[in-house]
Amino acid sequence: MTRSNSHDVLIIGSGSAGLTLALQLAEHHRVAVLSKGELNAGSTWHAQGGIAAVLDEADSIAEHVADTMTAGASLSHEDAVRFTVSHGREAIDWLIGQGVPFTRNGDDAEESYHLTKEGGHSQRRIIHAADATGKAVQRTLIERAREHSQIDLFEHHVAVDLITRDKLRLPNNRCVGAYVLNNKSGHVEVFQAPFVVLATGGASKAYLYTSNPDGASGDGIAMAWRAGCRVANMEFNQFHPTCLYHPQAKSYLITEAVRGEGGKLRLPNGERFMDRYDERGELAPRDIVARAIDHEMKRLGCDCVYLDISHKPAEFIQSHFPTIHKRCLKYGIDITKEPIPVVPAAHYTCGGVMTDQYGATDVAGLYAIGETAFTGLHGANRLASNSLLECIVYARSAAEQISRELAGTPEQPQIPDWDESLVTDSDEDVIISHNWDELRRFMWDYVGIVRTTKRLQRAKHRVDMLQQEITEYYSNYKISRDLLELRNLALVADLIIRSSMLRHESRGLHYTLDYPEPGPELRDTVLTPVNYQWPRR
Ligand code: FAD
Ligand code: SIN
Repeated sequence: MTRSNSHDVLIIGSGSAGLTLALQLAEHHRVAVLSKGELNAGSTWHAQGGIAAVLDEADSIAEHVADTMTAGASLSHEDAVRFTVSHGREAIDWLIGQGVPFTRNGDDAEESYHLTKEGGHSQRRIIHAADATGKAVQRTLIERAREHSQIDLFEHHVAVDLITRDKLRLPNNRCVGAYVLNNKSGHVEVFQAPFVVLATGGASKAYLYTSNPDGASGDGIAMAWRAGCRVANMEFNQFHPTCLYHPQAKSYLITEAVRGEGGKLRLPNGERFMDRYDERGELAPRDIVARAIDHEMKRLGCDCVYLDISHKPAEFIQSHFPTIHKRCLKYGIDITKEPIPVVPAAHYTCGGVMTDQYGATDVAGLYAIGETAFTGLHGANRLASNSLLECIVYARSAAEQISRELAGTPEQPQIPDWDESLVTDSDEDVIISHNWDELRRFMWDYVGIVRTTKRLQRAKHRVDMLQQEITEYYSNYKISRDLLELRNLALVADLIIRSSMLRHESRGLHYTLDYPEPGPELRDTVLTPVNYQWPRR
């Protein structure tokens, strides 16, 4: 057992949210940043389309606010939307200051930045780095963080659970650190800090088909729930309409900017269909497009639909979408000449750990930022490219608040080592892989794009059984990253199902055949943890 690290702030997650926060704090404070894989293991690295912000004179804060509210099916909190959108320009200026190479309108370094369009946006307002914005952002932030002597970076360190004074049976509850599995040594270490920030990304790995990387298992949401935080709106899992459909392509996204730049959706017979569903056609908000594709695929019994941009000049396609062009060629699809086979896939967790404008959660000393948080911005459906914006804006406001609070930091308690005396090595790892597969399959089939009460009940029954089995396994065997992720995914799946069962209407991403219309009332689904039993450790 290694007693390890003491810092001013422990940040769990090294995506755009976590690293932005680290860079903001490191001027004056000592910071630890954990990633359960390499530093670029999260969704940020995979982001394509770009970052939404009001940067053009023809655009306005009011229009970006209105587009966000419309996409969110009126459930977005207007104060959160206004706060985020009005901090957009300074967030982008900060990224440019860090050195992110956004695409310009020409080769000259003095040229203005190119802005693209995506579904639900009434203006061109997406600043991007060709079709690989996430890589440009993540690479730059990693470079800056590596240069900083006040930031300690810990790769392959998997946070297991938060440590609170409650858990230590001490008065005045607050978060004081985390138990962390060092995946290289296999030991669980104590990371101690008066401020802990969850920047752990989303939970779309709960679904069989997803655009997300492997680690998107909702660890932050699960850890916060176990520590006593409320979570909200977990029923709103976003399905991206267009992921590449190819047997060898593991969930590869085809950016919405392809539709923004004129790409058309077609049935296998070449017919267009989106105009039948929404007057905005291919540029309707994501929930509408994904549901239309799902409906057409079920109606026709086809495996995919097609996204066609081949009517545009080849040079235009190659310069705007170089990564997608290259990747599709690898699978024998030349997007300058033929349509791309696409299907919807789980993409983004709109709900999450409830926070205020500074990322503060229900537990003192614990913050949550980025996709893991619920700030009220996304409502029932996230507007395209508002996520990276939220990551940067809230990381910056959390930094301000934490800096203010660090001045009066309470004394840190003695934290006991992780106790492994009651567990043994597992001889049945097949249980983990089997349960992963089962969970993701029933979530896709029963809690997917179109739901019914009966399907949700079936899913609830299965998740209850899985959780029982996982808890027993967790109590008896040594932990591994796979087991931790399964345990978290099962908990998050349970929260998604319970939230879905509580919403007796169809709104945004939650569509149920039993209540096909929106109800009269605008309300969030807030779940509160009660009587959580810490497993024997
Ligand atoms: P992430 O970038 O997901 O990072 C999570 C971090 O947490 C990782 O470092 C991970 O290792 C770490 N972590 C997780 N659990 C643990 C644990 N238990 N212990 C230690 N570390 C842990 N949004 C946009 O706005 N524009 C886009 O163009 C766009 N395109 C996208 C394309 C794709 C393919 C995908 C998947 C998403 C896209 N999104 C886009 C959404 C956006 O990328 C994400 O919402 C955003 O990057 C999330 O950033 P984050 O910092 O919150 O988390
Ligand atoms: C995309 O490029 O289509 C993804 C944008 C997003 O998820 O916001």
